[in-house]
Amino acid sequence: MRSAKDFFRPLAVGAPAPVREVPFRPSRMIHFFDPGNEKMAAKVPDLVRRVDVLLGNLEDAVPADRKEAARAGLVRIARGTDFGGTQLWTRINSLDSPWALDDLLTLGTEIGDKLDVVMVPKVEGAQDIHYVDRLLAQLEARAGLSRPILVHAILETAAGVANVEEIAGASPRMQGISLGPADLAASRRMKTTRVGGGHPGYLVREDATGPDAPRATFQQDLWHYTIARMVDACAAHGILPYYGPFGDIGDVTACEDQFRNAFLLGCVGAWTLHPVQIAVARRVFSPAPQDVAWARRVIEAMGDGTGAVMIDGKMQDDATYKQCLVVAGLADTLAARDPELAQAYATPHTPHQEAHR
Ligand code: GLV
Ligand code: MG
Repeated sequence: MRSAKDFFRPLAVGAPAPVREVPFRPSRMIHFFDPGNEKMAAKVPDLVRRVDVLLGNLEDAVPADRKEAARAGLVRIARGTDFGGTQLWTRINSLDSPWALDDLLTLGTEIGDKLDVVMVPKVEGAQDIHYVDRLLAQLEARAGLSRPILVHAILETAAGVANVEEIAGASPRMQGISLGPADLAASRRMKTTRVGGGHPGYLVREDATGPDAPRATFQQDLWHYTIARMVDACAAHGILPYYGPFGDIGDVTACEDQFRNAFLLGCVGAWTLHPVQIAVARRVFSPAPQDVAWARRVIEAMGDGTGAVMIDGKMQDDATYKQCLVVAGLADTLAARDPELAQAYATPHTPHQEAHR
């Protein structure tokens, strides 16, 4: 048992105090790249200008004999790049692998001042977060860091889903959770062979109206339950939910549908695995200008937020007012980073003021 009073104490002498609130910075797309791949590394300066989060991936998709090269490449890139207002994250190897400890030791010590978030794969319960939490505190103290490195969990094991609430609340360091549909499918023994998206076999069929009458079928969403559960766990603990990867790079239409379902259910962003997905994520996770205009209209009409008013025949009260505050607040935050959106939302653009940490 840990006393609530101790929750915000550093876990190592000399480590920075834990954050009391997750800073909300735009993170519509978490763009994955392999830092050990020279060709990809050369594209980093361009990507930094185009994405909200750049993530140096050390885990799956990096072959075993290239793990060290990827780690060393990330150190080099982090040191040699000005990230401006773009966040730098990493995905370390899973905690049961031979590389995770060296990933944390190297990155925490050498580029802890540049790293915003460490993504931890295959998290099964609060115990995994506690392990990373204490270790990061020790490394922060050793490196003399003045602000804590945050932690993001991937929800991609059956145990992780069963324990998602305790994972979300395991540490003040928890920044958010992403759905990892590929590993989760394997862990659950689902009979799919894809990375996210739907499946034509997962459907409901219209009732029979006669012996030979055609019966329409409707594809269902394989991920609805898990995303909704993840969103609730995150919202209850004041952290941020994300959809993870969409593997069919050529099918940007289905990718957009998957991202939009996640956005509507409460997610703030998704992973992008290829540059074509960046524009999709940007479009989906930035509220539409007409929705922003509507939200502002409701807020204006509701005054102090109490009571009820009718706008265009639709009833507005405290609950719609609060929904509109979410949409309008998100629009303001995004507009501060993105001049095109500032114009689309008719918001005065103030360049990113936050000093990069
Ligand atoms: C992501 O890592 C996934 O397994 O979907
Ligand atoms: Mg995975």
